[in-house]
Amino acid sequence: MSPASKLLVDIHTHVYLPRYAALLRSRAGAAAVPFIRTNTTPEGLAEDRLLILDHEPSESLTSWSEKLKFMDKHGIDVSVVSTANPWLDFLPASQAHTLAAELNDDLEQYCSTGPSVSSSTQIKRLYGFGLLPLVPEITTSALLEIVNQISTLPHLRGLIMGTRGIGNGLDDEALEPVWAAIEKAGLVVFLHPHYGVDGSAWGDKDNGHVLPLALGFPFETTTVSSKYHFSFRIRPQREMKAATRLILSGVFDKFPNLRLLLAHSGGALPALSSRLASCIDHDPAVASRLKHDARYYLGKLYLDAVTYGPEELGFVSDVISRSAGYASVASVSKVANRSTGSKRMLFGTDHPFFPPLSATEKWKSVTENLEAIASVQGWSKGDKDGVRGRNALALFNLQG
Ligand code: URA
Ligand code: ZN
Repeated sequence: MSPASKLLVDIHTHVYLPRYAALLRSRAGAAAVPFIRTNTTPEGLAEDRLLILDHEPSESLTSWSEKLKFMDKHGIDVSVVSTANPWLDFLPASQAHTLAAELNDDLEQYCSTGPSVSSSTQIKRLYGFGLLPLVPEITTSALLEIVNQISTLPHLRGLIMGTRGIGNGLDDEALEPVWAAIEKAGLVVFLHPHYGVDGSAWGDKDNGHVLPLALGFPFETTTVSSKYHFSFRIRPQREMKAATRLILSGVFDKFPNLRLLLAHSGGALPALSSRLASCIDHDPAVASRLKHDARYYLGKLYLDAVTYGPEELGFVSDVISRSAGYASVASVSKVANRSTGSKRMLFGTDHPFFPPLSATEKWKSVTENLEAIASVQGWSKGDKDGVRGRNALALFNLQG
């Protein structure tokens, strides 16, 4: 087996736990997503079809037990798994609260009873991100109770969340006690999209899932999610907020040790960060809220390496690494060192999404992301090993 410094760790990999799948199955007749319907195949077999996005074809449901098989097929030693979108967003507060606690216990049970990487190490093959009941009308004490629960479950090292918070986005002041508790517990927040952006931007041509997934998802992580795309119970007039709005709210000044991991390499934020900084500079009311140049805060983030291309990975690592130069306005230094930026980037696959057309093939979403890491100009062998696994071992404190 590989030494710990060579382990391949997948930090962006999802699961529909049996209890969650049962809930979706119980919604088979529901008018609105999400739900699972059981269809009969032409061969007469029963097949679970999952529908989580409006206007999307259904997908076949990948069972939890396939995770280890997928990992083995691709040489993935460790996975930090998260419940897939749309989490608990569509449930009333009391049900979301109960289910969050149960699903967190379920995930702990799966990870703790799963195999270890080898007989000579304590490192398990499965760790997890827990879930918070982030829905309208949930109480702060319920959220804090679940943060506390996650922090006591040894195989849960963080929590996944969407961009809507409790209905008013992530820069909602009501969430400040939650950020404080997450920071204190040392949990990693995995920020992941679900809603995309206003679908009217995609035009009338049928481009399948390409525009919502290729652009809508990363734009949502960057800043905003659609008001009307889904029928969940949210206050419709308010836009929702993600990474940029979190930065503008001063969250990283208030909670400097908060560890936020952004899906899909932070979407458009790396490419737009200097423009963001310039717009802030020209708006004194916003500038006065922040202690640092906007580019500084990008260096506080962790990003998955799910870009499918080496040039994008290299660029993102440049942007992350230069942030240290923006710690104070007086000492701006624009020297970027991609190697430094690589230390905040972590391999991911987005399994079970983007499956290959034939079950025997390796998944392109794995091989392309691995090839991209291997081909980044200016990353040393050590940097690449870091992105493939060592950075995750450090971020999630996974020790042998
Ligand atoms: N599609 C989804 O709904 N979720 C993902 O994480 C990726 C693709
Ligand atoms: Zn994902």
